[in-house]
Amino acid sequence: MSLYDDLTDKGIILKVADLFYDKVYEDPWLSLYFKEIDQEFITAQQVDFIVGAMGGPQKYSGRLPSNAHPHMFITEELFELRTKLLEDALKELSAPESLVEFWLKLDGSFKNSIVKKSPSELTPRYATDEFLNFDNPNPRKKAC
Ligand code: HEM
Repeated sequence: MSLYDDLTDKGIILKVADLFYDKVYEDPWLSLYFKEIDQEFITAQQVDFIVGAMGGPQKYSGRLPSNAHPHMFITEELFELRTKLLEDALKELSAPESLVEFWLKLDGSFKNSIVKKSPSELTPRYATDEFLNFDNPNPRKKAC
């Protein structure tokens, strides 16, 4: 029995992914990275990826997350913002604890391969690839 088999309500994965990407596309900073990306497509990719990783049907045919973001300048702050939106989506939908734990751990395991310290680390995925590098439009004011 896989973690996926154990999940009573398999539909919860799509519900979480839907709500999560609603939040991502509404966020003033994260949304900048998704301007050219169809929301329904990325949601479906994410569902296939997580379902496969949980031991369910292997439908995912995209890149591994560690190879999907070499052209995006993703800071630790941005990564943590994304994690917070995922946590919020899981919580708001009262997802089972086993799913919450697995999903957050899996995403967190890609942190080191996705987060970059400097834009000089960016590399294109293919010849005409454009880099994505956006400042936080609402940075928290530093205490003086
Ligand atoms: C702040 C952090 C992140 C940002 C801004 C981000 C952004 C993006 C964007 C814009 C795409 C679409 C790329 C394209 O098709 O051109 C993408 C794809 C993807 N991301 Fe992320 N991502 C982040 C973190 C993660 C994490 C932690 C995971 C872990 C599961 C992940 C999994 C994926 C997957 C599976 C794809 C699909 C790749 C493909 O279709 O080949 N991402 N991401």
